[in-house]
Amino acid sequence: MPKMTLTRLAEMRAQREPIVMVTAYDYPEARAAERAGVDMVLVGDSGAQVKLGYDSTVRVSVDEMIMLASAVHRGTESAFLVCDLPFGSIEVSDAQAVETAVRFVREAGVDAVKLEGGNETKSSRIRAIVAAGIPVVGHVGLTPQTATALGGLRAQGRTEESARRVVREALAVQEAGACAMVIEAVPTEIVDAVLPQLRVPVIGIGAGPSDGQVLVLQDLLGVTEGRTAAFVKRYGSIGEASTEAIAAYAAEVRSGAFPAAEHQYGAGEEAVRAAREAAGAASGEND
Ligand code: KIV
Repeated sequence: MPKMTLTRLAEMRAQREPIVMVTAYDYPEARAAERAGVDMVLVGDSGAQVKLGYDSTVRVSVDEMIMLASAVHRGTESAFLVCDLPFGSIEVSDAQAVETAVRFVREAGVDAVKLEGGNETKSSRIRAIVAAGIPVVGHVGLTPQTATALGGLRAQGRTEESARRVVREALAVQEAGACAMVIEAVPTEIVDAVLPQLRVPVIGIGAGPSDGQVLVLQDLLGVTEGRTAAFVKRYGSIGEASTEAIAAYAAEVRSGAFPAAEHQYGAGEEAVRAAREAAGAASGEND
C-alpha cells in the first residue's frame, strides 16, 4: 500500500470515506495494524496505562513515549504515524513544545504529533509546532491529561457551557493550523453542529461517526482489564486467550508434559560420551 499522506486524508474526508485509526505501542502491534490496512496509527499516551501499567496518562515521560513510538515506527510502512506529546512536555512554553515535537520527528520518525486541548495556550503551542514544519493533530472534548479540571473521565459537551467550549476549542485548533483533530467523548449532535465548520479530518472516539474512528488497541482486542468507556467495542478476547495459553504452558511444565521429545535437541553418541566423560572428570575434581 502507498504511504498515507495528509493530502490523501483530506481527500478521504472530502469523499466521505471513513478514516480508520488505531493505537499501537510496539513493533508487533504496528505490524498487525499495518497488515490490517489501517490509515493512521496513533502512539497514544494511553500507552501509559494499557502498556506501561501507570495509573494515569500524565505519568508517562517523553523518553518512554519516544521508545514506544520508535518501535511502532519500525513496524509501520504505509499508515500515517501520529504520536501524543505527553503531559509536561509542552506546558512550559512554545519553545519547549517545538523542542519536544522535533525530538519525536527526529528520534522516533513520526509523521505528526498530537496534543490535547484548544485554549489560548494550546493554540499557541499548535501554531509554534506547525510553524516549525511539523504537522499537528489536535484533540478536544474529553482530554485525559486534564481530566481532573474537566470533572473526571466523563463525556464533555453535555451542558450549554461545555458544548460551547467544545465548539470553541475545535475551531481554535483548526485556526491554529492543526491538520486533523480527535474529538473524544462528545455527544454526536454537538459534533455534528461543528463538523460543517471544520475543514480538517475529524477522528471520533465516542463522538459519533465523524470523518473516522480511533480506538485504543487493547480495548478493541479485549486485553484491557475491568470496565471500559461506553464507546468501546470489543472485537476480540485476546486477554482471555493469552491467560489461557500461559496457564496451559504452566500446567504442562508442572506436569512434565512440556518439553516433549519434539521440543528437545538430540546429540550424536560421541558428543554424549564426551559430555559424560567431562562431567565424570568434573565430579572427580570436585570430590
Ligand atoms: O492516548 C490515546 O490513546 C488517545 C486516543 C484515545 C485518541 O488520545
